[in-house]
Amino acid sequence: MYIGLDIGTSSVKAILLNEDQDLISSQTAELTVERPHPGWSEQDPESWWLACETVLDALKARAPAEFAAVKAIGLSGHMHGATLLDAAGKPLRPCILWNDGRSGAQCAELEAREPGFLTLGGNRVMPGFTAPKLQWVRENEPDVFAKTKMVVLPKDYVRFKLTGEYVGDMSDSAGTLWLDVAKRDWSVKLLAATGLTRDNMPRLVEGSEISGTVTGDLCSRWCFEAPPVVAGGGGDNAASACGVGAVEPGSAFVSLGTSGVLFVTNSAFSPNVESAVHAFCHAVPETWHQMGVILSATDSLNWLSKTLNTPASELTGALGKVDGPSPVSFLPYLGGERTPHNDVKIRAGFYGISHETDNTALTHAVLDGVAFALKDCLEALSVAGTQVDRVLAVGGGSRSDTWLEIIASILGVSVDVPIDGDFGASLGAARLAQAAALGETRGVFERPALKTSIDPNPTLTQSYAEAYSQWRNLYPAIKQAGF
Ligand code: XUL
Repeated sequence: MYIGLDIGTSSVKAILLNEDQDLISSQTAELTVERPHPGWSEQDPESWWLACETVLDALKARAPAEFAAVKAIGLSGHMHGATLLDAAGKPLRPCILWNDGRSGAQCAELEAREPGFLTLGGNRVMPGFTAPKLQWVRENEPDVFAKTKMVVLPKDYVRFKLTGEYVGDMSDSAGTLWLDVAKRDWSVKLLAATGLTRDNMPRLVEGSEISGTVTGDLCSRWCFEAPPVVAGGGGDNAASACGVGAVEPGSAFVSLGTSGVLFVTNSAFSPNVESAVHAFCHAVPETWHQMGVILSATDSLNWLSKTLNTPASELTGALGKVDGPSPVSFLPYLGGERTPHNDVKIRAGFYGISHETDNTALTHAVLDGVAFALKDCLEALSVAGTQVDRVLAVGGGSRSDTWLEIIASILGVSVDVPIDGDFGASLGAARLAQAAALGETRGVFERPALKTSIDPNPTLTQSYAEAYSQWRNLYPAIKQAGF
């Protein structure tokens, strides 16, 4: 038996799998995001652990015999979150999340001062990443910075609670910008640029390696037959790739979660900093990946749902199937954007609202706008020399066939929908646990059974091509207007 534990932005999800990777049970506990200032995004690290205890207790209650037989636990989590710990391992402040935009000035300064971020780190220094956040803390909260003994990522804080050890995996650690991504090791030079050393960093393992063992106290609490090992695991995107079997070079997926991601596996480290493509290590050894990341995918729909006081499923249900683009355009930049603009100041907007515009047109515009932003990611990857012909879809947004048809038609690629698409990252984490326990990655990361495949709809492709070229003009026009 294997557990996959995913620390998502909006919830913690745990699944229990048997040796054949059949799903025995799954449990979810909600999380909240705090936004104490405009552009900030934080979470209390203790809330992750409380949610983990809740879902693990619930898994045990649901399937006690299977739970007791767990051999390994795999972790995945939202990436880049700066979790600062004191000498006793206590969080010194709330975690600064991946979609927090406070460190724009530090990004510009670090890029100018240390060119190694672009070459060794392989990425633009963007406010979501961990290194500029530490520089922000160093400048704005010097007392907190002085007490910081260890910096870990969200899932690695959960690992610390589970095993008592500070360990990170390659895929998530690449998103700190302190990793020499080609060498898969911390860069002393990049750490020094933000006043840190190797001593402030966890030990590194591959995602499919063993990182430690569950502590005696927790083994007693949960009555495991033998102490389960904990696998390195992965950042949520690399873990999702493991969940959908995207571990071979060229295999790709689109994730419609809080963020939107277009992810492609590479056989080598392949940076392309100009178009803000992310280039990181994969969660399996000797493999890397590129991705385009948009900050607000289902977050855009959830914002609309909150604003209109109507559940998102009701909004998309009322829209039904579409026969062309919405008359209204939407730029999904609620918290700035990463790929391709790397623009922390830009904000979202609707254009084209008329007397006739209703909730359905706004919902349609949001689905279109997120899909256009993913098309921007596809273009950025193509500039980076990577072609994508087919993608798997994961994340909560992949439950909407309408959204997937719009995406397939705009991107011009077929979208495969796995039966368990909702479990992408937790499934990948559980598979990494299995690989760690077996000491073997072969045969573990198969492509999942498909629920359906959605091909581009030729009628939609044509009308959306025109709408995309108009939509693309909105961002430069807005910038030119001085926003
Ligand atoms: C990736 C990124 C997000 C988070 C949250 O760079 O910031 O996808 O991992 O899912």
